[in-house]
Amino acid sequence: MDVDLDGASVLVTGGTRGIGRSIVEHFAQAGAKVAFTYRSSTDAADELVETLDEQGTEAFSLQGDVADFDIAQSHVEAVTNRWDSLDVLVNNAGITRDGLLLRLQEEDWDSVLDINLKGVFNFSKAAYRPMMRQQSGSIINISSVVGTTGNAGQTNYAASKAGIVGFSKSLAKELGSRNVTVNVVAPGYVQTDMTDELDEEARDAILEAVPLDRLADPADIAESVLFLAAPVSDYITGHVLHVNGGLSM
Ligand SMILES: NC(=O)c1ccc[n+]([C@@H]2O[C@H](COP(=O)([O-])OP(=O)(O)OC[C@H]3O[C@@H](n4cnc5c(N)ncnc54)[C@H](OP(=O)(O)O)[C@@H]3O)[C@@H](O)[C@H]2O)c1
Repeated sequence: MDVDLDGASVLVTGGTRGIGRSIVEHFAQAGAKVAFTYRSSTDAADELVETLDEQGTEAFSLQGDVADFDIAQSHVEAVTNRWDSLDVLVNNAGITRDGLLLRLQEEDWDSVLDINLKGVFNFSKAAYRPMMRQQSGSIINISSVVGTTGNAGQTNYAASKAGIVGFSKSLAKELGSRNVTVNVVAPGYVQTDMTDELDEEARDAILEAVPLDRLADPADIAESVLFLAAPVSDYITGHVLHVNGGLSM
């Protein structure tokens, strides 16, 4: 996709693997400066920074748990201290801890809600003041088709992803007058480590339900994120962009 974000400063949570990594690479290709966070994949983070550096992209990584309020503050500050602004925040980091509610443990609920939903709150709150001061910015939150349709065995995950939608629409209303947009990308099933955990039967059932007859590639999601960060979509806020191959219409 031909998008020019030359010089824009971007922060992506969970940038070492899967969708987040593709988002980082797409912003770099568009000319942006990119910081990304991760929790434990230090080697992958170092390798990605090195690759981006070789390609002429200003980039750095930040280690820490998105569920930690203070870490989110310090990550955002690291970006604004280095680049004076934060133009785009992509809240991508997320996990699954699946199981029927009957067997789901309290810890499975807490960890998924803390990372997937509180993480979005933490980083958006940290970005609020700098973006408000700049009178510009774009926050893009990664939800899931499951947040809309529900899915047996994913009450925790679906609740976190539906929560992101309500959160984002409310924040879009708060920040609209400051020229800050807040949008959601809701992927269907994407070929990443997260879906590698699915058994063959589950994968076949998904493919049967997807009119476009394939899982998404991380790039399919990254391109939608790039679109929502680009000037061409300036008048779009509070929107949920479904990128699911027609799985849910
Ligand atoms: N894959 C799908 O089919 C699919 C579908 C719909 C929505 N999504 C959503 O898309 C997003 C990315 O999914 P993915 O499949 O690309 O995931 P993934 O391949 O499992 O990668 C997850 C990324 O998030 C980071 N991360 C996880 N927990 C973290 C934490 N507590 N603090 C900081 N970073 C953390 C990981 O860092 P480390 O490498 O250090 O662990 C990694 O960079 C998630 O929000 C997911 O819910 C995925």
